[in-house]
Amino acid sequence: MDFKTELKNYQNIVEKELEKYLKKDVCPEIELNKSMEYSLMAGGKRLRPILILSTCKLFSGDYGKCIPYAVAIEMVHNFSLIHDDLPAIDNDDFRHGKLTNHKKFNESTAILAGDGLLNYAYIVISNDLKNTTEQQELSKKLQVFNEFAESVDRMIVGEYVDTEFEGKPISSEYLEYMHKNKTGALIRLCVRIGAILGGASEEELAKLTTYAEKIGLAFQIKDDILSEEGDSLITGKPVGNDRVKNKCTYVTKYGIEEAKNILNNIIQEAIEIAETYKENGEFLKQLAIYIKDRNK
Ligand code: IPE
Ligand code: IPE
Ligand code: MG
Ligand code: MG
Repeated sequence: MDFKTELKNYQNIVEKELEKYLKKDVCPEIELNKSMEYSLMAGGKRLRPILILSTCKLFSGDYGKCIPYAVAIEMVHNFSLIHDDLPAIDNDDFRHGKLTNHKKFNESTAILAGDGLLNYAYIVISNDLKNTTEQQELSKKLQVFNEFAESVDRMIVGEYVDTEFEGKPISSEYLEYMHKNKTGALIRLCVRIGAILGGASEEELAKLTTYAEKIGLAFQIKDDILSEEGDSLITGKPVGNDRVKNKCTYVTKYGIEEAKNILNNIIQEAIEIAETYKENGEFLKQLAIYIKDRNK
């Protein structure tokens, strides 16, 4: 199967699973449910759940046990996007080519929809834990649960650094710290979830964690590049905004050409790790290339 088809297949699996979790209650919170659904089903790339499923598949044909975690991470990711777009943070009006949540609904609904998605993720995970009786499986899932919460904490820290340094000079060290936390932490988590639940050895887990850290940082550098020179009709979000808002990014810090060099080098390192898995690592290799070459 070629990479694009495999990616699409994974995306379809994730879309179908997410649909099962949409809240169908009516009054009086129908608008809140709609607002959560609006962002969750808005057409994201589903990179994080795909990383969970495809990493698990490296070790085990059965990635079914990862599904609740794949759903939960996409809920947390969309919580982070809803809040990231709020006037108090990035103040953006468009995402996925549609109005941002607070523009479509209102600010209070968007804040609560974000809160709701964050908490829903933990409901989904805790239900899975409650239904796991086999002790060894449960202990792996408890490790995953702990890492999940720790990684969300890191993402929040990264978002804080991003807002705090807006319009201020930032050191290369802090910039890397910001990117590794705001975006890298969840991406790293996803690879680790797939590896842990798939049954990777400690050595494999460590190797894949390095792969994940590289693609996580690279993903945000590419996001910075797309914010500078992407096509907003394709990215579905504003272009040029980081510069207007004096955001600290790899592009504003190093310039576009150097940001691309850094991106290429990091992706090359990730590719080399994926290649150690020979043909089994092909999807993770192509995913690293996709992160570098994507236009949305
Ligand atoms: C956007 O993430 C926010 C960042 C962390 C850079 P994605 O580009 O993965 O978002 P969607 O879900 O695919 O839109
Ligand atoms: C988003 O970072 C990171 C999180 C939401 C955690 P950005 O603000 O750079 O991403 P976009 O460009 O709005 O998607
Ligand atoms: Mg932001
Ligand atoms: Mg933003």
